[in-house]
Amino acid sequence: MVKFLLIFISITVLSLTSADAAIYKGQRIFIKKCLKCHKAGQNFVAEHKQKYWKKLMKKKGKPLAELHLKSTKAKRSWKYFKSKKYYKKSKHLRQFLIEYAKDSGNVPACN
Ligand code: HEC
Repeated sequence: MVKFLLIFISITVLSLTSADAAIYKGQRIFIKKCLKCHKAGQNFVAEHKQKYWKKLMKKKGKPLAELHLKSTKAKRSWKYFKSKKYYKKSKHLRQFLIEYAKDSGNVPACN
Protein backbone atom coordinates (compact mmCIF):
# COMPACT_ATOMS: atom_id res chain seq x y z
CA MET A 1 0.00 0.00 0.00
CA VAL A 2 2.76 2.42 0.97
CA LYS A 3 4.61 1.45 -2.17
CA PHE A 4 1.55 2.11 -4.27
CA LEU A 5 1.10 5.48 -2.65
CA LEU A 6 4.71 6.41 -3.29
CA ILE A 7 4.42 5.52 -6.94
CA PHE A 8 1.23 7.50 -7.21
CA ILE A 9 2.82 10.55 -5.61
CA SER A 10 5.91 10.42 -7.77
CA ILE A 11 3.82 10.21 -10.94
CA THR A 12 1.80 13.22 -9.86
CA VAL A 13 4.92 15.21 -9.04
CA LEU A 14 6.56 14.22 -12.31
CA SER A 15 3.61 15.23 -14.46
CA LEU A 16 3.29 18.54 -12.65
CA THR A 17 6.92 19.42 -13.12
CA SER A 18 6.91 18.50 -16.80
CA ALA A 19 4.05 20.93 -17.49
CA ASP A 20 5.94 23.62 -15.60
CA ALA A 21 9.09 22.76 -17.50
CA ALA A 22 7.37 23.34 -20.83
CA ILE A 23 6.11 26.73 -19.71
CA TYR A 24 9.54 27.61 -18.41
CA LYS A 25 11.15 26.54 -21.67
CA GLY A 26 8.57 28.56 -23.56
CA GLN A 27 9.36 31.59 -21.46
CA ARG A 28 13.06 31.22 -22.23
CA ILE A 29 12.28 31.03 -25.95
CA PHE A 30 10.14 34.12 -25.67
CA ILE A 31 12.84 36.08 -23.83
CA LYS A 32 15.51 34.99 -26.26
CA LYS A 33 13.60 35.21 -29.53
CA CYS A 34 10.67 37.58 -29.23
CA LEU A 35 11.64 40.18 -26.67
CA LYS A 36 14.10 42.04 -28.88
CA CYS A 37 11.20 43.22 -31.02
CA HIS A 38 8.26 42.89 -28.69
CA LYS A 39 9.71 44.86 -25.85
CA ALA A 40 6.55 44.92 -23.78
CA GLY A 41 7.36 41.27 -23.11
CA GLN A 42 4.95 39.67 -20.74
CA ASN A 43 2.53 42.55 -21.08
CA PHE A 44 2.54 41.80 -24.78
CA VAL A 45 1.54 38.22 -24.04
CA ALA A 46 -1.14 39.38 -21.63
CA GLU A 47 -2.59 41.75 -24.23
CA HIS A 48 -4.02 38.83 -26.11
CA LYS A 49 -6.53 36.22 -25.15
CA GLN A 50 -5.87 32.49 -25.03
CA LYS A 51 -7.98 31.98 -28.12
CA TYR A 52 -5.78 34.32 -30.12
CA TRP A 53 -2.58 32.56 -29.09
CA LYS A 54 -4.09 29.16 -29.74
CA LYS A 55 -5.01 30.27 -33.23
CA LEU A 56 -1.52 31.60 -33.95
CA MET A 57 0.16 28.52 -32.52
CA LYS A 58 -1.86 26.04 -34.56
CA LYS A 59 0.02 23.61 -36.79
CA LYS A 60 3.17 24.01 -34.72
CA GLY A 61 3.02 27.77 -34.87
CA LYS A 62 2.68 28.15 -38.61
CA PRO A 63 0.30 31.14 -38.52
CA LEU A 64 2.65 33.03 -36.21
CA ALA A 65 5.59 32.30 -38.48
CA GLU A 66 3.67 33.36 -41.58
CA LEU A 67 2.57 36.59 -39.98
CA HIS A 68 6.23 37.52 -39.51
CA LEU A 69 7.43 36.19 -42.85
CA LYS A 70 4.92 38.44 -44.59
CA SER A 71 6.17 41.58 -42.88
CA THR A 72 9.43 43.19 -43.98
CA LYS A 73 9.51 44.99 -40.64
CA ALA A 74 10.02 41.62 -39.01
CA LYS A 75 12.85 40.69 -41.34
CA ARG A 76 15.27 40.04 -38.52
CA SER A 77 13.05 37.21 -37.31
CA TRP A 78 12.79 35.42 -40.65
CA LYS A 79 15.72 33.14 -40.08
CA TYR A 80 14.24 31.95 -36.83
CA PHE A 81 10.70 31.52 -38.11
CA LYS A 82 12.00 29.50 -41.05
CA SER A 83 14.15 27.26 -38.89
CA LYS A 84 13.37 23.73 -37.87
CA LYS A 85 14.16 24.69 -34.33
CA TYR A 86 11.17 27.02 -34.19
CA TYR A 87 8.74 24.28 -35.20
CA LYS A 88 10.37 21.75 -32.93
CA LYS A 89 10.07 23.94 -29.87
CA SER A 90 6.83 25.69 -30.71
CA LYS A 91 4.81 23.58 -28.30
CA HIS A 92 6.72 25.06 -25.38
CA LEU A 93 6.19 28.55 -26.66
CA ARG A 94 2.51 27.75 -27.13
CA GLN A 95 2.17 26.62 -23.52
CA PHE A 96 3.87 29.72 -22.26
CA LEU A 97 1.74 32.07 -24.36
CA ILE A 98 -1.50 30.40 -23.33
CA GLU A 99 -0.47 30.21 -19.69
CA TYR A 100 0.03 33.96 -19.51
CA ALA A 101 -2.67 35.15 -21.88
CA LYS A 102 -5.06 37.88 -20.83
CA ASP A 103 -7.77 35.56 -19.61
CA SER A 104 -5.58 32.97 -17.92
CA GLY A 105 -5.43 34.75 -14.58
CA ASN A 106 -1.71 34.05 -14.23
CA VAL A 107 1.01 36.59 -13.72
CA PRO A 108 4.48 35.45 -14.66
CA ALA A 109 7.36 35.77 -12.26
CA CYS A 110 10.15 37.82 -13.74
CA ASN A 111 13.22 35.77 -13.13
C1 HEC B 1 12.63 40.90 -35.86
C2 HEC B 1 11.61 41.37 -34.97
C3 HEC B 1 10.55 40.39 -34.47
C4 HEC B 1 10.74 39.22 -33.78
C5 HEC B 1 12.05 38.54 -33.42
C6 HEC B 1 9.41 38.74 -33.44
N1 HEC B 1 8.46 39.61 -33.93
FE1 HEC B 1 6.46 39.43 -33.69
N2 HEC B 1 6.18 41.03 -34.94
C7 HEC B 1 7.19 41.83 -35.45
C8 HEC B 1 6.59 42.84 -36.32
C9 HEC B 1 7.37 43.93 -37.07
C10 HEC B 1 5.19 42.61 -36.31
C11 HEC B 1 4.13 43.40 -37.07
C12 HEC B 1 3.87 42.68 -38.39
C13 HEC B 1 3.00 43.47 -39.29
O1 HEC B 1 1.80 43.49 -39.05
O2 HEC B 1 3.52 44.05 -40.23
C14 HEC B 1 4.97 41.48 -35.41
C15 HEC B 1 3.71 40.96 -35.10
C16 HEC B 1 3.48 39.99 -34.14
C17 HEC B 1 2.17 39.58 -33.70
C18 HEC B 1 0.83 40.08 -34.23
C19 HEC B 1 0.56 41.48 -33.86
C20 HEC B 1 0.15 41.65 -32.45
O3 HEC B 1 0.60 42.60 -31.79
O4 HEC B 1 -0.63 40.82 -31.97
C21 HEC B 1 2.37 38.64 -32.73
C22 HEC B 1 1.29 37.93 -31.95
C23 HEC B 1 3.78 38.45 -32.59
N3 HEC B 1 4.44 39.29 -33.47
C24 HEC B 1 4.38 37.55 -31.73
C25 HEC B 1 5.74 37.23 -31.73
C26 HEC B 1 6.33 36.14 -31.00
C27 HEC B 1 5.58 35.22 -30.06
C28 HEC B 1 7.66 36.13 -31.30
C29 HEC B 1 8.74 35.16 -30.82
C30 HEC B 1 8.60 33.79 -31.21
C31 HEC B 1 7.91 37.23 -32.20
N4 HEC B 1 6.72 37.86 -32.45
C32 HEC B 1 9.16 37.58 -32.72
C33 HEC B 1 8.53 41.69 -35.21
C34 HEC B 1 9.13 40.63 -34.57
